[in-house]
Amino acid sequence: MTHRAIAIDGPSGAGKSTLAKAIAKELGFLYVDTGAIYRTVGLAALQRNVSPADEPAVLALLPSLVITSGYGEDGLQHMYLQGEDVTEAIRQHAVSDAASQVSAIPGVRAYLLEMQRRFAAEHDVIMDGRDIGTVVLPGAQVKVFLTADPPDRAQRRYEELLARGQTADFDTVLADVEARDYRDTHRAAAPLKQAEDAILLDTTGLPFEESRALLLTLVKEKLAL
Ligand code: DC
Repeated sequence: MTHRAIAIDGPSGAGKSTLAKAIAKELGFLYVDTGAIYRTVGLAALQRNVSPADEPAVLALLPSLVITSGYGEDGLQHMYLQGEDVTEAIRQHAVSDAASQVSAIPGVRAYLLEMQRRFAAEHDVIMDGRDIGTVVLPGAQVKVFLTADPPDRAQRRYEELLARGQTADFDTVLADVEARDYRDTHRAAAPLKQAEDAILLDTTGLPFEESRALLLTLVKEKLAL
């Protein structure tokens, strides 16, 4: 049986994960957060005192990493590193930066590709990331490029960090969002870009409920549901 796939790509803080989770629940699809996998590699590098920018050292690390994921009773994706639940740890601010750096390494991307495709081979998925529609699942039935202006996205990240009890400064978060955007769109390996057949959804200024309704309508139309 072939499974259906919805690919959601876009820059950080555009609301991809919140929206994808909501749509997954509505349609009974599996939500796969691919950024969490890159974050787990970034965390592993930091924990082992390996610079996330040191390509040979990061590549040397990969075979020793046991990265797995599972779905909790809440239906949400949990990440494990050497068997330890790192779901919370990978959301730290320092890990965002490390994830962005390791994700620019082609060998890291190649290493994680099969893991991502396996999800889609086994389930109906809604997968979010940067290169899902272009590289990971080019045959996805629905491709959406979700974006919003940088200050809007920084505001969401900022609120997310505060809600997690972390200290944050808006200007720093905005500068980080812009730096990550630059790195994610300018890297040689699978840069962030809209797939030719992806639908652009700009959520700047849109309340969550409106974005959700728009996305759901679009997905249902495409999947003829
Ligand atoms: O979506 P996120 O912020 O959790 O992603 C963390 C980093 O991983 C981000 O800087 C870009 C990178 N990433 C990627 O290169 N490809 C993906 N499919 C998902 C994330």
